[in-house]
Amino acid sequence: MAKTAIITGGGSGLGQATALHLADKGVNIAVVDIGEEGAQETVRLVKEKGPDAIFIQADVSKHDEVKAYVDQTLDHFGTIDYFFNNAGISGSGGYFLDTDVEEMENIIGINLLGAMYGLRYVADVMVKNGGGAIVNTASSAGVIGQATVVTYAATKHALAGVTKSLVAEYAKDGLRVNAVAPGPTETPMVKQYFDANPEMKASAEQGIPQRRLGTSDEVAELVTFLLTSKAEYINGEIIRIDGGFTNTK
Ligand SMILES: NC(=O)c1ccc[n+]([C@@H]2O[C@H](COP(=O)([O-])OP(=O)(O)OC[C@H]3O[C@@H](n4cnc5c(N)ncnc54)[C@H](O)[C@@H]3O)[C@@H](O)[C@H]2O)c1
Repeated sequence: MAKTAIITGGGSGLGQATALHLADKGVNIAVVDIGEEGAQETVRLVKEKGPDAIFIQADVSKHDEVKAYVDQTLDHFGTIDYFFNNAGISGSGGYFLDTDVEEMENIIGINLLGAMYGLRYVADVMVKNGGGAIVNTASSAGVIGQATVVTYAATKHALAGVTKSLVAEYAKDGLRVNAVAPGPTETPMVKQYFDANPEMKASAEQGIPQRRLGTSDEVAELVTFLLTSKAEYINGEIIRIDGGFTNTK
């Protein structure tokens, strides 16, 4: 029987690329996103490959909307096998002492609480069904310290702790929870920034041993591997995919 995945932030970047890689493996997808246009495009592209897909509009920072996307997925597909818990924002990038409290709350609300609400409701379904596989999107900013991303780093470091601790509680119930920690990756968000600031792109690339940004496809390939049974004995890992960036800091 076909598997079902929920992907948050499925309308762009890493979420959309992963939807397409999973679709190539015949997986049905619930595409969750706050925005409609990109997510509808993901649904169209997944269906073109054969599997079924639905768009569920939700703001992951609202726990009632998270509960609703889980319920709607179950209503439509009957089960949840895989969860790519990925929606996130980067923030405006200033120094911590220049950061508005509202921006801190917004980043924590989406990146950390949003991800935790998703885990709360999806893992509940998976444990009751005998198991499932989850990948959280952390970041190189969840592995090392960096300037201009203090609040973002707080959420991504926290997600690494959540990943490991959930495994301590629920691996015995068939749950696998891993995280990916991408370095700078050429998603639409990052590309737009670097197109406007080409000198920043050059300096970012200079800091990466492989001298280039990552691609969405490379991250999608890793996430797809971690979700499927080929990674059956990998649990609680935070896997870096950053061209050597964090290993050389
Ligand atoms: N691109 C990178 O360099 C990079 C590196 C490390 C980690 N990440 C992480 O990867 C994840 C995906 O980022 P991306 O680069 O693909 O960005 P992106 O902006 O291309 O995609 C993010 C998607 O999340 C959605 N989203 C934002 N806020 C939401 C909310 N409140 N509720 C529901 N959906 C929401 C957006 O509408 C968008 O479709 C994020 O968690 C980000 O922190 C990205």
